[in-house]
Amino acid sequence: MELAMIISISSCLCLVLLLPLIRFLHKVWWTPIRLQRNNFLNWYGPKPQLVVTDPELIKEILTKDGLYQRGEIPSFVKKLIGDGILASKGQKWAKLRKIANHAFYTESLKHMIPAITASVDAMLTRWSQHEGKEIDMFEEFRVLTSEVISRTAFGSSYKEGKNIFDMLKKLAELISLKQFQVRSPLIGKLVKSKEEIEEDKLDKAIQEKVINIVKRREEQMMTGGENGLASDFLGSLIKASHDPDVKKRVSQQEIIDECKTFYNSGQDTTTSLLSWAALLLAIHTDWQHKARIEVLKVFGRENPSPEGISKLKTMSMIINETLRLYTPVLNVVRNVKSEIRLGKFVLPANMELLIPPLALHHDPNIWGRDVHLFKPERFEDGVAKATNGNSMAFLPFGYGPRFCVGMNFASAEVKIALAMVLQRYKFTLSPSYVHAPLKVLTVRPQHGVPVILQAL
Ligand code: HEM
Repeated sequence: MELAMIISISSCLCLVLLLPLIRFLHKVWWTPIRLQRNNFLNWYGPKPQLVVTDPELIKEILTKDGLYQRGEIPSFVKKLIGDGILASKGQKWAKLRKIANHAFYTESLKHMIPAITASVDAMLTRWSQHEGKEIDMFEEFRVLTSEVISRTAFGSSYKEGKNIFDMLKKLAELISLKQFQVRSPLIGKLVKSKEEIEEDKLDKAIQEKVINIVKRREEQMMTGGENGLASDFLGSLIKASHDPDVKKRVSQQEIIDECKTFYNSGQDTTTSLLSWAALLLAIHTDWQHKARIEVLKVFGRENPSPEGISKLKTMSMIINETLRLYTPVLNVVRNVKSEIRLGKFVLPANMELLIPPLALHHDPNIWGRDVHLFKPERFEDGVAKATNGNSMAFLPFGYGPRFCVGMNFASAEVKIALAMVLQRYKFTLSPSYVHAPLKVLTVRPQHGVPVILQAL
């Protein structure tokens, strides 16, 4: 009895002494070791970048937008997205973000669903020619997302919108080639290459087309001919260009830049997600089967409805696991505005900080030893449970005030597209598939995703 008491008192004492020691070691040894291990300096040409993977520091960076601002967009990317919401800061950003939030909030999204289903329908009609044969899902989804964004962003001006987006696509192709080209800066300044001349021509034609659509829409607005003017994104922008409050008013150039931004940020990213999801479902046919059963239970053979989309739980798990394994956006970059302390670092002004979502998504300490496996069941009880409450462990759409404004739009589009494909087809990976993820602007399957289609 006495011995037992002595043992329990001494264990309590040990615990009382041990706890502060553990806390002390955690602070002076483990935390610095962890920091040192997780963050490192990377040289991007002559530019140092601090790569930050520590969740606490990432949260600090992404929530304090005034102190850590979105970095300068490379000039070749700026040609594509202009000076729109992605590139802007401060008041201009707040103004544009408000318009975009409104255009893509849940209620507005409901009105976009018929446009999305119509685009998927058109794609599936094309597919009837490929039954029993091979089809490249990457190429199909690239056309689909371009169609969807044209219809949803331009609404009644869809046809002209599509024409603008075709030119933007050409511009994107020319510009993405350029990121791998090395030219003498002197010659580059004096002589324009063939591609640069083509870029300038496209740029000018895009500007003219957007101006024409805006003019026509304005005329319709004046004569009261178009009731649904503000229901599409372009309509919201045109409405804002007439705002009586000068601070809220957007200029013609801002409208053009927003059109460019939304096309480029909305199309490439969603194509990437859809393509990787298709690849994973073509390999993991058990999950394809589960997803199809769910889709047929919720919608039967009918087109997806807004109420049904939120009931697709298995589909959400598959999408999250795809975003975790094949994150479309590889880097989230911020610039230090003025000298600042971040954790143990004192960072100079203009220092570039790089947050790599992919590294967090593939960290075995967060996700476990099966981190590289496709296991949608991780997300069975939601993202918070899957990440053990570590909100920085899963960042496909960023975090903080500048997180992706198109997140709900992209999720709805992807769910509708996959649901309608699963209603009509089974698919398996073609032997011609070559696994070669490539980062252009987002991560894409370099040689496409060829699958064999089988009608149900
Ligand atoms: C799977 C699809 C998508 C992914 C993975 C994705 C990812 C992201 C990420 C990571 C950011 C944050 C970048 C940062 O903090 O620096 C972002 C921002 C943004 N995204 Fe998306 N995105 C997707 C779809 C879309 C769509 C469909 C649209 C438009 C229709 C869109 C428009 C934007 C815009 C405008 C921003 C900038 C927001 C701001 O600066 O306030 N995205 N996206």
